[in-house]
Amino acid sequence: MLDNAYNASGSPNIALVKYWGRRDDALNLPNNSSLSMTLGDGLTTTTSVLFSSKLKEDAIYINEKKLDLSSATNEKSGFMLKAINYMRSAAKMDSHLLVVSKNSFPSDAGLASSASGAATLVYALNGALELNRPTKELSIIARQISGSACRSLLGGIVKWNKGSMGDGSDSFAEQIVSEHYWPELIDIIAMVSESKKKVSSSEGHKATVRTSPLYKARPSIAEASVSRVIDAVKAKDINSLSEAVMRDSNNMHATMLDSWPPIMYLNDASKAIIETVHEINASHGENIAGYTFDAGPNGHIITLRKYENEIRERLSKLSGVSNIMVSSSGPGPSRISECLITDDLIAENSKV
Ligand code: PMV
Repeated sequence: MLDNAYNASGSPNIALVKYWGRRDDALNLPNNSSLSMTLGDGLTTTTSVLFSSKLKEDAIYINEKKLDLSSATNEKSGFMLKAINYMRSAAKMDSHLLVVSKNSFPSDAGLASSASGAATLVYALNGALELNRPTKELSIIARQISGSACRSLLGGIVKWNKGSMGDGSDSFAEQIVSEHYWPELIDIIAMVSESKKKVSSSEGHKATVRTSPLYKARPSIAEASVSRVIDAVKAKDINSLSEAVMRDSNNMHATMLDSWPPIMYLNDASKAIIETVHEINASHGENIAGYTFDAGPNGHIITLRKYENEIRERLSKLSGVSNIMVSSSGPGPSRISECLITDDLIAENSKV
């Protein structure tokens, strides 16, 4: 019965140069290119997709919760349904689908679970529907669910080209180096106690573009940072990479604070992480680590494996840091054998 299920695994990514602010909200077209590291080390989303004429309607389960597809949900689930329907009609498939997806990492980890989920879903749909679309095209589809998701279609260090076309056909992700290029590079994730963020990234993108005078300077600054970080990665230059990563995170958060009303994702623990990383770098006489923060207070410290213990020890002493995880760079999505769809679940969602 499960013969037609397609199972895939994919991972979140951490932006080294951030995407913040769009030129087109419906297509998720950014004002600047961005760059990220796809994570690995067991930080994964597993997704199973099954199309079957037995199903009475579409059903999607994320982290064991069934999504309500009938009511107007948030922007991202609306975009997800649009992508599903686009791919289903491209394959001339008229059956309903069952999707079961779960993350191996805590949903409050400040990891882009929506990016990992959207990228893995698009990859699994491509497989289940035998569409055989190239990765570039899959990244364009995933981008329309959640912008940063397009970067999780590839492993290693990935650039999302901002593009200039109105239809978004040149706004896609491409790999700069694979996950094998610089295996010593790691992301130490310092989780800080967090309540759900007040401003979603979807709202934040719009509010900053609309209200921050400072934001006008950001796209060209970020574009220059992308080139700087690519050069640093290719040269395996941790000093230059760390500085560029910290400056870019600070620059993005400055435009958030400059929005009206101000948007503040960082908290006291985040600020303590920032100070600690600067202290560590000062004691080494060069930048051996760089912090970066997405739309939330959890810190990501980009560094080399040989500095892991020293940094962990310092971070674990900070009040507010509740958990520390470490990941090196991982691959893009792949097909796996583990199937999350059970016969019971199919029966529950089948016609009587
Ligand atoms: O993809 P979104 O709409 O969730 O936006 C993500 C924005 C940041 O995480 C703050 C930066 C990035 O490039 O991932």
